[in-house]
Amino acid sequence: MEFDVIAAIHNRISTKLFHNSSLDGSKRKALEKYINTVGSGPFLSKMKFYLIDIVGMSPREIALLGLPREKYHANTYIVGTVLASEEYNLEDYGYIFEKIILYATSLQLGTSWLALRLNRNRLAELIGANDFEMIPCISPIGLPFDYLCQNYISTNYDVLIDSKNRKPKQHLFFESHFSNPIRSNDSNQYQYAMEMVRLAPSIGNKQPWRILYDTISGGYHFYLEHSLHELYLPQYEQVIDLQRVDMGVAMFHFEATLQHFGLEGKWRIMDPNFPLPNKRTEYIATWTL
Ligand SMILES: Cc1cc2nc3c(=O)[nH]c(=O)nc-3n(C[C@H](O)[C@H](O)[C@H](O)COP(=O)(O)O)c2cc1C
Repeated sequence: MEFDVIAAIHNRISTKLFHNSSLDGSKRKALEKYINTVGSGPFLSKMKFYLIDIVGMSPREIALLGLPREKYHANTYIVGTVLASEEYNLEDYGYIFEKIILYATSLQLGTSWLALRLNRNRLAELIGANDFEMIPCISPIGLPFDYLCQNYISTNYDVLIDSKNRKPKQHLFFESHFSNPIRSNDSNQYQYAMEMVRLAPSIGNKQPWRILYDTISGGYHFYLEHSLHELYLPQYEQVIDLQRVDMGVAMFHFEATLQHFGLEGKWRIMDPNFPLPNKRTEYIATWTL
């Protein structure tokens, strides 16, 4: 990875207020370069990313975008598209968008995932997207309002104290069976990767990811426990489940942490058909050697 991804995972928060200026200078250049070469997600869906500035627009035009501008004072946004027809498009989008967000965090920039209440038609017009290219989420990007007052980034993540409000690991990670929470082993790098999943952002902070470690195959099976209604997007005549985007975020945190430790593996669809804990839980993918 081109940056310290573990420090970025610890340091990223949803920035509530931005310094009222557009993103420019060397940080913008670095980010532009990064989004143009960011690569693909595990399932190779086709994606594109753009930086848009709203500073020259009239208040009416801005209001039409559905952005919470009063709350954020952000003038620049990252907007991306993924092909609406691809099967794992939302997981791929979550994976790559979080990679961009964490890179921006490493540049000490503030971000905040946004998916609800957006005027996707208008955003699509701004970036010149086609009808078959969907915009799942966007993010404001810029200097956090109080960037001068705080030490925004620390690379000494062993001493970072996370103030994140997250579910305990025994609710999320299991061994062989969903009734068997994984046994703690602090020296295990896979468990560290799961801890990085635990810290990930998710819509409504629902943390829908569940991981089942398969002691026989050595695989880590990722599941989604649905807890939100799907969102209807009239422009694509489709409902989308934004919690699938969360799964992509979790997959990126897991893989990037293992990569940090030099541990190799790949994503595969190989549902082990283990008994599920409830009807809301669905198999997504497996990390395997
Ligand atoms: C896919 C996705 C969509 C989100 N959509 C919104 C949104 O529309 N509005 C909002 O205020 N926050 C949104 N969030 C931010 C989450 O609420 C936030 O990440 C979560 O509460 C955890 O807080 P943190 O980001 O500060 O760690 C979204 C997050 C994700 C991952």
